[in-house]
Order: sequence, then structure tokens, then C-alpha cells
Amino acid sequence: MSRFGLVIVTILVILGSVSFSEAQLKLGFYDKTCPNAEKIIQAVVNQHIGNVPSLAAGLIRMHFHDCFVRVFFISLSKFYKSHIRGFDFIDLVKSILEKKCPGIVSCADIITLATRDSVVAIGGPTWSVPTGRRDGRISNATEALNNIPPPFGNFTTLITLFGNQGLDVKDLVLLSGAHTIGVSHCSSFSNRLFNFTGVGDQDPSLDSEYAANLKTRRCLSLADNTTKVEMDPGSRNTFDLSYYRLVLKRRGLFESDAALTMDPTALAQVRRFAGGSDQQFFDEFGTSMEKMGRIGVKTGSDGEIRRTCSVVN
Ligand code: HEM
Ligand SMILES: *[C@@H]1O[C@H](CO)[C@@H](O)[C@H](O)[C@H]1NC(C)=O
Ligand SMILES: *[C@@H]1O[C@H](CO)[C@@H](O)[C@H](O)[C@H]1NC(C)=O
Ligand SMILES: *[C@@H]1O[C@H](CO)[C@@H](O)[C@H](O)[C@H]1NC(C)=O
Ligand SMILES: *[C@@H]1O[C@H](CO)[C@@H](O)[C@H](O)[C@H]1NC(C)=O
Repeated sequence: MSRFGLVIVTILVILGSVSFSEAQLKLGFYDKTCPNAEKIIQAVVNQHIGNVPSLAAGLIRMHFHDCFVRVFFISLSKFYKSHIRGFDFIDLVKSILEKKCPGIVSCADIITLATRDSVVAIGGPTWSVPTGRRDGRISNATEALNNIPPPFGNFTTLITLFGNQGLDVKDLVLLSGAHTIGVSHCSSFSNRLFNFTGVGDQDPSLDSEYAANLKTRRCLSLADNTTKVEMDPGSRNTFDLSYYRLVLKRRGLFESDAALTMDPTALAQVRRFAGGSDQQFFDEFGTSMEKMGRIGVKTGSDGEIRRTCSVVN
């Protein structure tokens, strides 16, 4: 090999090891390749959030699922379209970014950034979002369904599924706090109202006055799969501590919410947030969100940058 060839090979080896060691998330990953990416995402969020404040709830839930199942967006987007809001919004942001910088910004980063920006836009917490995620290429709905905690999950199930992702009890309690915004279909919890153990009974861990109210005014039967109810009545678009106060009053909508009172460590955290300050909760929530945003990320040359978020290239 000529000396010139050797120099080239050496440079390539060094570059290779550099890009390998740098294959991790970092703040401002797109600063050079798509300098306005983060500003554009934030601007589109701000443009829409006034008319559709519920966007924040849809996005943060989508982000949660996308973190737990990195291929979530494609594997379940069709199946889930009626239950998870925000897919069209992500497609819109993606199409704008593809015009500016084709093939550069991943769907996973768009979801993560848009989630943070939408929560900030409704007056909620902020957190930093290191970028450089790449999109998954595999689509396996079974895997998705096995990893996402169900609303009827007990504490053991919840802590196992969160634990599988490197999240602990405190993260579980903090992140469940996102149920301070958004709505749920009756069908996600109406077994608690009508047929908890299969004998036409009600879940004793749900406040009976609240249950009666839901049954007579909102979710009229087990068959109702279209009505939606606020998870935090009266403040569904306000990111606040009321979720924890409701949980303590046994008015959390899901068994998974009630489960947070059934473990001493979790209960202590619920009490701490319920009696604490917004700022305390916001800071800790942000830390957990950043942690969640790192779960199973693909970086470097793993995965791909999808051209359309709902389809593998
Ligand atoms: C602890 C385990 C969790 C369970 C079992 C759970 C379950 C659910 C269910 C069943 C719904 C209602 C879906 C429907 O019927 O339309 C829902 C809604 C929601 N969840 Fe969770 N969730 C959990 C954790 C989280 C986390 C970690 C976040 C975010 C950080 C989150 C954010 C939301 C939001 C914002 C909504 C409302 C969505 C909307 O208004 O469109 N949840 N959740
Ligand atoms: C999907 O995931 C499940 C559970 O991990 C596994 O048993 C199954 O073989 C996978 N299916 C495909 C098509 O990869
Ligand atoms: C929690 O739920 C799982 C799955 O349904 C079940 O196997 C387990 O026995 C339950 N644990 C408790 C403590 O109820
Ligand atoms: C309640 O659950 C039991 C056992 O699963 C079932 O046989 C019954 O049909 C259910 N009742 C209603 C009203 O759906
Ligand atoms: C709701 O239930 C009806 C009747 O069982 C069914 O035909 C329909 O597909 C369901 N809709 C949803 C969104 O699950």
C-alpha cells in the first residue's frame, strides 16, 4: 500500500472510531445539518396549540409509547389512530422539515421535541431534549402490546414494565402525573364502574360518589366505546398537581392510577407531590421525561431517518 493510501486508511479509521464514540444523543444534534429544525418544530407547535391545546396530551402519550416501543409509531399507528391523538400533527411537522432538510431529522426526535414544546406551550414543565435519535425499522405489534402498561395493571405489573425500561418507582409516579392532562375513552376503565370482578360490581378502590357520577352522566354502559372523559375534571389542559390530589381522593380514572396508592414507596411520593409546589414537581417531572426520552434510542448508523413517519423507508 502506498504511503498516501496508508494515511487515508488511518484517517478513515480515526474518523470511524470518532463517529462510533460520538454515537449518542447530544444537545443541538441538528445545529449544522438542519440549523432551524428545533425552531421550526416549536413554531408549528405554537401555531396549533392555541386552537388545539389537547395536542399536548396526544403528543406526550404518543412519546411515552414511542419510548417504550421504539417502533411504536409504525407498528401501531393504524391500529391506534382512534386512540392516540397527534399522528397527523407529526406527519405535518415531518413534511415541513423534509422540505427544508430532506432525510435529516428523525421522527423519533420530532416526537420528542414537539412533546416538550407542547407541554411548555400549555404552561407545563420544560426539560432539555438531547437529539440524534434514529427511527426503528422493525414493526412488531405483539412486542408493542407486551411492553405498554395496561390501564388495569396492578402495581407489580407497572413497576415490572417500567423497570424493564430502566425506570423506577419515582419515575412511575412522576410520569403518571401526565394524567393531569387529557381524556380517556370510557372503555379504558368502565369495567371499574360496571363489572369489576365479573359479577356486575364496582371497583371498591374507586370513590363511589365519583363512580356514580361517571355512570349516570358520562359512561352509561360497558358497551360505550366512544365517549371520552377528562382524566382531571375541570383542568384537562392544565399541567398541575391535581392528578396527585385526585389519586389520594381515590378519583384516579384507571386501576393503574389507584395502584400508586397501594405501594408504600409510591404512596409516599404521591403524597409528597400532592402537598408540594408546582415547581418541585415540574423539575422532577422534567428529569424523568429526559430519562424516558433516552430509552432504547438508536443512534449513529443504527436504524434510519424515515421519510414518512408512519412507514419504514
Ligand atoms: C403508568 C402506566 C400508564 C397507563 C396504564 C396509562 C394508561 C392510559 C390510558 C388507558 C389512557 C386513555 C386512552 C384512551 O382511552 O383514550 C391514557 C391516556 C393518557 N396518558 Fe397514560 N398511561 C400510563 C402512563 C402514562 C405516561 C407515562 C404518560 C406520559 C408521560 C401518559 C400520558 C397520558 C396522557 C396525556 C393521556 C391522555 C391522552 C389524550 O388526551 O389523548 N400516560 N393513559
Ligand atoms: C414479535 O415479537 C414477539 C415477542 O417478542 C416474538 O415472539 C415474535 O416472533 C416477533 N414477531 C416477528 C414477526 O418478529
Ligand atoms: C398483578 O397482575 C398480574 C397480571 O395480571 C397477576 O399475575 C398478579 O398476580 C397481580 N399481582 C397482585 C399482587 O395482585
Ligand atoms: C360481566 O363479566 C362476566 C364475566 O366475565 C360476564 O359473564 C358478563 O357477561 C359481564 N356482564 C356484562 C354486563 O357485560
Ligand atoms: C365500538 O364497538 C362497536 C360495537 O361493538 C364496534 O363495531 C366498533 O368497531 C367499536 N369502535 C371502536 C373505536 O372500538
